[in-house]
Amino acid sequence: MKFPTTVVKTRELGKTFDNIKAVYGLTFNLVQGEILGLLGPNGAGKTTTIQLLLGLTTYDAGEVSILGMDPTRQRREVLSRVNFSSAYTSMPTNLTVWENLNVFSLLYGVKNRKKKIEEVLERLKITEARHKVTGMLSSGQLTRLNLCKALLNDPEVLFLDEPTASLDPDIADVVRQTLQGLRRERGMAMLYTSHNMYEVEELCDRVIFLHHGHEVARGTPDEVKLAMNEKSLEGVFVRIARGGDVETAGNGDGRN
Ligand SMILES: Nc1ncnc2c1ncn2[C@@H]1O[C@H](COP(=O)(O)OP(=O)(O)OP(=O)(O)O)[C@@H](O)[C@H]1O
Ligand SMILES: [Mg+2]
Repeated sequence: MKFPTTVVKTRELGKTFDNIKAVYGLTFNLVQGEILGLLGPNGAGKTTTIQLLLGLTTYDAGEVSILGMDPTRQRREVLSRVNFSSAYTSMPTNLTVWENLNVFSLLYGVKNRKKKIEEVLERLKITEARHKVTGMLSSGQLTRLNLCKALLNDPEVLFLDEPTASLDPDIADVVRQTLQGLRRERGMAMLYTSHNMYEVEELCDRVIFLHHGHEVARGTPDEVKLAMNEKSLEGVFVRIARGGDVETAGNGDGRN
């Protein structure tokens, strides 16, 4: 039996800001073709974890390996093979959608730029907005532009920090279908944060719940619900947020 390749590996990862343990003792693997949900209440440590993995913030405990490399020491190489999207990042507002994507394609060294930009615009269904100035986009269009940017370099791993936060249900569905398509076609792996538990159940193979910087539950959505005797992931979330008793579920032994 062939085991899928591990693309992201953390061991006892930790980061403290002043006196706040933003993340601590976080150990997990993300494998090729997997969508792993990193969940938890506001301030749980999700964005910090993604920033640590991207090398945007330095970790002060533990180890990280991305595609077999250290993201702080081999930053360039790692960044050329991964990408990131968030509903909250911004791009130059005076450039058009096309111009912004062209700038990023140049930065990434994309070979056939025109074809690639057309492809990503089509995938996210914003071709009709390509000549719009970025500052005039609706927040849903801006979110999709950010996702287009993240697909330009054909990343092997995609870090998604609340990518659907401002989308209407129709477009959120387009985004989910796109992500599922990319996973199916290319085995792209994704680390995904969202506060929309319906979406998480539909998209994620496994989830890790964080609370106050450390893991409190892990497993497939069904395993976590079963372990916490909740009917929905929403119920699990609310219990965790309110500090109810939590037992680590599913693959919570730290090996995966
Ligand atoms: N640069 C920073 N300096 C100081 N504290 C920080 C910094 N970044 C994050 N924190 C703190 O670390 C903790 C984790 O924050 P983080 O942004 O990772 O949470 P999150 O899970 O992404 O929350 P949200 O759901 O609100 O996006 C919070 O207590 C936050 O205040
Ligand atoms: Mg966050």
